[in-house]
Order: sequence, then structure tokens, then C-alpha cells
Amino acid sequence: MVILVTGGCGFIGSNFVRYVLEARKKAKVVNLDLLTYAGNLANLEDVQDVFAGRYHFVRGDVADKGLLKQVFEQFGIDWVVHFAAESHVDRSILGPEAFIKTNIYGTFHLLETCRQFWSKSPRGENAEKRFLHISTDEVYGSLGRTGFFTEGSPYLPSSPYSASKAGSDHLVHAYFHTYGLPAMITHSSNNYGPYQFPEKLIPLMINNAKNGLPLPVYGDGKNVRDWLYVGDHCKALLAVLEKGTPGEKYNIGGNCEKENLELVNLICDYLDEKLGFNQDRSRKKLIRFVADRPGHDRRYALDTAKINRSLGWKPEVVFEKGIRQTVDWYLAHSGWVENILDGSYMEYYQEQYGARLNGR
Ligand code: NAD
Ligand code: DAU
Repeated sequence: MVILVTGGCGFIGSNFVRYVLEARKKAKVVNLDLLTYAGNLANLEDVQDVFAGRYHFVRGDVADKGLLKQVFEQFGIDWVVHFAAESHVDRSILGPEAFIKTNIYGTFHLLETCRQFWSKSPRGENAEKRFLHISTDEVYGSLGRTGFFTEGSPYLPSSPYSASKAGSDHLVHAYFHTYGLPAMITHSSNNYGPYQFPEKLIPLMINNAKNGLPLPVYGDGKNVRDWLYVGDHCKALLAVLEKGTPGEKYNIGGNCEKENLELVNLICDYLDEKLGFNQDRSRKKLIRFVADRPGHDRRYALDTAKINRSLGWKPEVVFEKGIRQTVDWYLAHSGWVENILDGSYMEYYQEQYGARLNGR
């Protein structure tokens, strides 16, 4: 079994590569990653040694069809797990073009390559092929105070990021429908855990709170996200690959809704407990309400009955434990964080927060 993982040097991809190599001793992984600002070889530093012979890294663009052809010829790919994407809503608002290139063109070229290679396989062999497209709950748009998105909910994406993911989902569906490509789509809620790039909410708040820096909460802080531990997500993805039905979609959620402000307060409380107060004051005093994200979705929540019923998956990690483990991981890996906080990241930070934190 040879698995092509795209975007394996990012947050969820790197957790998945490590998980699948441990869980399936016969699996081989080819990780294709462009190493954008979000991709980090250090996320898989140990994997090359521990899984020697079963792990291969290729640096490149998922939208490079020549390279995809080479990878398929060289490795004979059985499964594709497609994580590679521009993934940050705020960056998509600052500059949407990269999102269209990677998320839509990248997915298109990957689908085309699979179609070409897998249709050449002798009759019957395609039964073992799988294309798993990692999508998001954000394609469904925003919810009011009540209700849940099901796999049948209409698409109503509101940011350039979610619109580009929706576009890629439609292509995947069309390749199943038109060409019979054995593709499946998963829609996951907000992940948290080790190796998340420190510009997303949880690692950003941990790092700033640890260092006594302002904690920028958008709008009134009452937007709701459903938090899923990344390890639980990886288990769900393997279940979909092994037991899911081509052509189907599966919601993967944590059944753990939290308002942003509640979450930031929790992180402050835990850091105060672990490290003591910051200059004699609780870290909650660092919270600053800043200008809202344009088009900010109010609430996401997923109905996960389908994956629970059909594949027997449900989230295992309780949030209160998972968030403590995550804070502990970031405190223990301060070198990993510091290596990321280089010039290019600080440029983004200044553009995103400079005016907001100065009250403009
Ligand atoms: P991430 O930003 O941490 O990682 C993305 C990875 O893709 C990086 O390693 C980057 O170098 C790579 N990449 C980007 N453009 C590429 C290209 N053109 N060619 C090859 N590689 C490229 O993202 P993440 O948070 O790990 O998310 C992974 C996937 O899961 C994305 O598709 C995202 O839409 C989806 N998702 C994420 C979450 C979440 O909470 N993080 C939730 C639901 C869905
Ligand atoms: O829902 C799944 C999505 O979750 C994924 O598809 C995306 O790839 C992933 O980035 C994530 O998107 P969000 O926009 O929900 O995540 P983010 O961490 O950027 O923000 C979480 C919430 O916190 C959101 O309501 C915005 C808010 N926020 C975020 C930042 C970075 C703040 O209030 N302040 C901040 O500084």
C-alpha cells in the first residue's frame, strides 16, 4: 500500500503521516509538500529515521502536473490523501490568489493525474484505489445559535478560503460522478493539537499569553467553533480510507462547541496555573477586543451521526484534557515555535494585527 499524502509537512498532514506509519506497518508514505510558510520539515524530523524505507519526501507543488506524473510513475500510488492547501482564512482575505491556485488548480491536477494513472490499471485493480479529499465545515457557511450541518447541507462559503475549498470539493465530486474516480470527501471542524502553525487561534493565544503579549480577540469574541483533537481526526481519516464508500462525504467533528472568548480564558487560566501570573496579573488582562474579521462566520457545528453510525468513529479526546496536553506541548517545544517566528511570519503578524492592536 503506497499512500501519497499531499501537504504532509503541515499541521494535520504531519500528524497523519506519523499516525498512519505507526498504525499500518505495511504502509508506505510519499509526502509531497511545497514547504510554503506553513510547511515545516521539522514537523517530521524523527519520521525519516524511525520509518526508514517506508517514508519518502518530495518537495514540490501539487499543481505541477509534470511532477505529479513523475511521482505516480516512480512510486505507483494506491491512495491519495489530499491535505495540501492554503488553509488560513485571514491570509485568504489579505491575498486570495494563492488559494485559487493551490486549492482549486492543485486539486484539479491531482484529480487529473489519478484519473490518467488509475484508468490505465488492469480491470479490477481500481477497487483498491482511493482519493480522500480533506475538506472543511466552512464550505457550509455559518449557523445561527442552533442547528448542525449535515452532509446534505447546502454549500454557502463566505471567505475566499472556504470558497476555494468548496470549488475543490465540487471538482472531486464531479470526478467521482463523471469518471468513477473512487473519491471521498471529509468535512472536519477546527483541529487543535501539536504542530499547528502559530498564527491560528489556539497556538497564537498560547504563545502570546506565555510571553505576556496582547491577546487579539476578533469582534465580541462570541463566534463559536467546534474543536476536534488532531489525533481523533487522523483516526477518522484512516477509518474513511479503509471502510468508507467512494462517492460519499463524511462530517468529522469534535462535538465540542466553544465561544472564542471562553477558549482564550481557558488557555489563560491553565497558563496562570502552570507558570504563575504574568506580572502579578492573570493573563486574561492581556485580552484585547480588536476589529472583526471581515465576513466572520458566527458559528460552525457538525452533525457527525453518519460517520458514527456507518464507520463506528467518534471523538475520544475530551477537550479539557486535549487543550492541556496541547498547551504542555507548546511549552515543551518553544524552540519549534521560535524557529517559525522568523522575519516572514512577523511581516504577516504586523500586517494582520499592527493597526488592529493600535485601535485603528
Ligand atoms: P497547514 O496550512 O498547516 O498545512 C498545509 C500544508 O500544505 C503545508 O505543509 C504547505 O507547505 C502545504 N502546501 C501548501 N500549498 C501547497 C502546494 N501548492 N503544493 C504542495 N503543498 C502545499 O494546513 P492544515 O491546518 O494542516 O490543514 C490541512 C488540510 O485540512 C487543508 O486542506 C485544510 O483546508 C483542511 N482542514 C483544516 C482544518 C484545521 O482546523 N486546521 C479543519 C478542516 C479542514
Ligand atoms: O472550521 C475549520 C477551519 O478551521 C479550517 O478549515 C481552517 O483551515 C482552519 O484555519 C480553521 O479556520 P478558522 O478561521 O476557524 O480558524 P482560526 O484559528 O483562524 O480562528 C478561529 C476563531 O478565532 C475564528 O472565529 C477567528 C478567531 N480569531 C482568530 C485569530 C487568529 C480571533 O479571535 N483572533 C485571532 O487572532
